[in-house]
Amino acid sequence: MALLQVENLKKVYADGTAALNGIDMKVEAGEFIVVIGPSGAGKSTLLRCLNQMVQPSSGKVLFQGVETIGAGNRRLQRIRREMGMIFQGFNLVERVSVLTNVLHGRLGYMSSWRGALGLYAKSDVREATRLLERVGLGEQVHKRADELSGGQQQRVGIARALAQKPKLILADEPIASLDPASSDIVMNSLYNFCKEDGIACVCNLHQVDVAKKYATRIIGIYKGTKVFDGTPEQLTDDMIDLIYNQNKKAHATHADSIHSKQKETA
Ligand SMILES: Nc1ncnc2c1ncn2[C@@H]1O[C@H](COP(=O)(O)OP(=O)(O)OP(=O)(O)O)[C@@H](O)[C@H]1O
Ligand SMILES: [Mg+2]
Repeated sequence: MALLQVENLKKVYADGTAALNGIDMKVEAGEFIVVIGPSGAGKSTLLRCLNQMVQPSSGKVLFQGVETIGAGNRRLQRIRREMGMIFQGFNLVERVSVLTNVLHGRLGYMSSWRGALGLYAKSDVREATRLLERVGLGEQVHKRADELSGGQQQRVGIARALAQKPKLILADEPIASLDPASSDIVMNSLYNFCKEDGIACVCNLHQVDVAKKYATRIIGIYKGTKVFDGTPEQLTDDMIDLIYNQNKKAHATHADSIHSKQKETA
C-alpha cells in the first residue's frame, strides 16, 4: 500500500478556474518527490488538496490507505498532524520565540485548551530544542523568530514540521524567497532529515536544476494536468521544454496557422 495515493483529483475554484484536471499520483514511503511546472500550473493547489487546506472538487486522496476527502474535523486533525507543511513565506509567528514556533508543531497532539495556554510537555520542549540543534539553530532558541535571517527562519519551519513526527512533508516552494547559499542549506536540511527520519516529501520547486539534484522522482504539471512522472534522468531537456514551453508552442502554432491562412488568402 502506497503512503499516499491520489486518483483523478480535480479542483475547480469558486470563480470557475479549473486548477486540477484529474491528477493521478502515488507517493511511497521514503520518496522525495519534486513537482515542477510553470506558474499557475496547479502545483500549490495540488499540495493543498493533499492535506485539504484546499477542498478538492472530486477524486480520491488516500493517506495510508484511508480516504481523506470528506473527513470530519477530528480525523482531519489526525491526518494533518502526520503531514508536515513548509511554506515559501515560512509562516512563523514572528513575535514569539524560535522554540515556541517549533513547539507549535506539537499542537495537533494536544487538547485545544492546553495548546491555547502553551502548556507543552517537558518532553516536547526537550525534543523541540534537540530539533533546533539539529537544524543548526541551537544558539537561537530564545530569539524572536523575526530576528532570524530568511534561511534560518525556513530551518525553523523545517524543525516545526519535524516536531509533528510526520510521515509526509509537503513543501510549497521552500526556497523561493531565499538567496542561493541559504537555498542550498535549506534543501540539504530538508532532504537529509527526511532521509534520516524515513519521511516522504512532496516538494514544489521552480528550479529544475534543484529538482534534479534532490528528487527521487519528478512530477511535471502543465495547466492542471500531469505531463511527466519519472526519474531525474528521464527528465530530458526536450521534456523540460514540453513542460515549460507548451504555452509558447501553442501561441507559435496559433500564430503560424494565422500566418499561413493570411498567405492563402493573399
Ligand atoms: N483561491 C483561488 N481562487 C481562484 N483561482 C485560484 C485560487 N488559487 C489559485 N487559483 C488559480 O488556479 C490555478 C493554479 O494556481 P496554483 O497557485 O495552484 O499554481 P502554481 O503552479 O502553484 O503557480 P506558482 O508557480 O505561480 O506558485 C491558477 O490559474 C490560479 O490563478
Ligand atoms: Mg504555487
